[in-house]
This record gives sequence, structure tokens and C-alpha cells, in this order.
Amino acid sequence: MSRVQERNQAIADALDKVRNIEAEQGVTRESLSNIRDVMVGLASQTDLFPPEDFPISKGGDGEAFEVLSVDDDGRFELYMEVADKHVTTPPHNHTTWAVVTGIRGLELNRIYEGDGGPMGEARPRVAQEIEVKKGAGVCMMPDDYHSIHIEPGEINMHLHLYGLGFAHLKGRKMYDESTGKYRSFDYTPEV
Ligand SMILES: [Fe+2]
Repeated sequence: MSRVQERNQAIADALDKVRNIEAEQGVTRESLSNIRDVMVGLASQTDLFPPEDFPISKGGDGEAFEVLSVDDDGRFELYMEVADKHVTTPPHNHTTWAVVTGIRGLELNRIYEGDGGPMGEARPRVAQEIEVKKGAGVCMMPDDYHSIHIEPGEINMHLHLYGLGFAHLKGRKMYDESTGKYRSFDYTPEV
């Protein structure tokens, strides 16, 4: 079996487990931590995800994204994110659950407190910082807010799994530091 075949098989096996966990346990913090464990197991197989198979030049600008798997109905969308640049995002939610796991390098995730300010009045406060690297992961409920931070100097590779693919998401919000308000974050090619 070629490396690509092995990788695709490993991805398919992991996502089968993920679908089963969600079907049996629903979407809770506990079920997401179980999903995270499955995805950490996948991402830790670094031999299956060598940087040469995911060249940054393909995406340009020091960053590349590749959809590795998505169901026909848009569910269980898995992205590879590769970056060797400074990346920072504003606090944002996803309106679907999300799990990020590390293959190599470091993606700092800041998780914010509260519900994101339903009226757009609450400034998000950092509740937790999680270093997502090999062997680690972070999971978020649909209403959780996070931001990600990556620094250049190495090839940072991370798997991002979403309960529903970006093309289907509506109502995502981000906190705009410059205005102090929340605003729409839909249809942004962000992670
Ligand atoms: Fe995100």
C-alpha cells in the first residue's frame, strides 16, 4: 500500500470512529474529548503526513489548506493546515463543533470565556491557552470562541475537523478588537 493509500485509510478509519462517537454520545464536551483522542491518534502518525506531501507553495503566502475529507452532506470536514508564517485570528466561533490536533509545530489556541456576548456587548476574556502540537488537541462546542496563533520558523501542520463544513455554516461571529463589537464571520477562508 502506498503512503497516500495508507493515509487515506487511516483518515477513513478515524472518521468512522468519530461518526460513531457522535451518533452514540451526541455533541457534548465529553464526546468531543473522545473525538479529540481519536484525532490525536491520527495526527500522531506523522509518517503519514510528511511536509513534502503538503507543500506550502501550493497555497502560496506561507500557508496552505487542503480538504482531506468531507461527507457528501458537508458533515465531518477535515482540513490540513500548513503554515510557516505569522498567523493570528480574532476570537471567533464556528456554529459547529471543532477539533484541532497537531502533527508538527505549534498552534496556540486561546479559548475564551462566556457565550460570546449574545448582544455583542461582552468583550471576550481568555479562559485557557492550549498549545496544540503533536500528541495534543483542542475541542470546541459550537458556541465556544477561540483564536489561533502560529509563528514562522518551522513547518506547522495541524488537522482541523469540523462537524459541518465551512460552506454550510451560517451565523459565525468574530470579535473585532478595533471596534469592540462582534460581527459576522461567515464565508471567511479561515480556520
Ligand atoms: Fe477557528
